[in-house]
Parts: sequence; C-alpha cells; structure tokens
Amino acid sequence: MVAKTSTSGDFNWIAPVYDALAFTVFGHKLQRAQLVFLDQIPTATSVLIVGGGTGWLLEQVLLRCQPKRVVYLETSTQMLARASRRMVHKSLLGSVEFRLGDETTLLPGEPFDVIITPFVLDLFSETTLQVNFIPQLLSVLKPTGQWFVTDFVQTDSWWQKALLWSMIRFFGLTAGIRVGALADWQQCMARAGLTLRARKPQVGGMVSTEVWKR
Ligand SMILES: C[S@@+](CC[C@H](N)C(=O)[O-])C[C@H]1O[C@@H](n2cnc3c(N)ncnc32)[C@H](O)[C@@H]1O
Repeated sequence: MVAKTSTSGDFNWIAPVYDALAFTVFGHKLQRAQLVFLDQIPTATSVLIVGGGTGWLLEQVLLRCQPKRVVYLETSTQMLARASRRMVHKSLLGSVEFRLGDETTLLPGEPFDVIITPFVLDLFSETTLQVNFIPQLLSVLKPTGQWFVTDFVQTDSWWQKALLWSMIRFFGLTAGIRVGALADWQQCMARAGLTLRARKPQVGGMVSTEVWKR
C-alpha cells in the first residue's frame, strides 16, 4: 500500500536522521516528555499510536503498559520500516499492527482505549485539527477512552519562539510541512469536547505532556 501525500508532510527523506537531529537539539528531553504519563495507561488495553516515528515510544509502551493490542499508524514507509525492524530486533512484536496511512484509514469498528499522538498535532493547522484530524481520531476513541498528547506549545520566551520558528521552517523545507505557525491544539482539543485530566510542562515550558478524556 502507498500512503497518499498528506498535509502533515512526508518524513521519508528525514527518517534516517530524525532521531539524531532531535537528540542534537534537545538531548533526551523530547523522549523523557513522552514517558511522563505512560504509567497511567492500564495494562491489557487497545492502543493507537499515531505518528510514532522510528519506534522508540512503541518499545516503551509495549514494555511498560503490556497492551492487548497496538495499531501503529504512520504515513512514512521509512519510519514504519524502522519501527517494525526495531521491534523484531528486540523480539517485542506481540500484537502490534504496523499500518501505513493516516487517520482516514481508521475503521469505525475498531475503537481504542488509548490514543497517543507524540509531536504530531504540531504538523497541522488549527482548521485541519478541528475539521479533520481530531474528529477522525475521536471517532475511534471509546467513550471511556483517553488521549495522550506530547507536543510543542506557544511560549513567551523569545529564544523558544525563535527555535520553534526555525523548526517550522526546517520541517517545511525537509518534510513539506505546510503550517505557517504552531496551532493552539489545546484549544482545539477543548473545543472538540475533550476534558483535560493531567498536564505537565516539559523542556522549559515549550512542550506540554497532557492526558485528555472525553
Ligand atoms: C515530528 S515526527 C515525530 C516522530 C515521533 N513521534 C517522535 O517524537 O520522535 C511526526 C511523525 O508523524 C508521522 N505523521 C505525520 N502525519 C501523520 C498522520 N496524519 N498520520 C500518521 N502519522 C503521521 C510522520 O511520518 C512522522 O513520523
């Protein structure tokens, strides 16, 4: 199957160097941010990971949460291949379905207890989040389900603003991301009827790790 070109870019080209680049700029901070609330995911649940990249987080979810089932949804063939290779290498495959595609490939009859979007909401404009992305993910979240988000947020610090601006330009050039500015995704989540359960600022306040429920 070939993933259609998405408004959220094409990460194939950058996949081989993505983790190294993130480490060069942020060290392990972006990874640590994604771990903050993982222990709140009950065992034996169904988990949807959207845009997990090279699979580092998938490994942690399998080890820490022992889920019943995981769908690993990725638009990048290169990211997906890296994630599945990593799981084979670690003998961790279990019940993971590696699915090439975006949120439009989700089926209404496959509800999840948990959705995880790690550094994905920042790829979309507010309009796309409100009209497409959030409603599509909500359509597969169980009424008792929880949505775990880790992502960049607006900040008052001039150097963090400059860094965010540079990152948006960089991913515009390398991955074809078409957003001009960081969306207020927290407002979009609230507008979609979700309720914030937990929030912890990370990376000096430029990243927020949050748990939302219906
Ligand atoms: C900024 S990277 C973050 C990767 C990883 N979560 C991390 O923090 O290292 C965004 C990832 O989301 C994927 N992606 C972008 N849009 C997507 C969509 N609509 N559905 C699924 N994956 C998507 C990209 O291919 C890429 O791997």
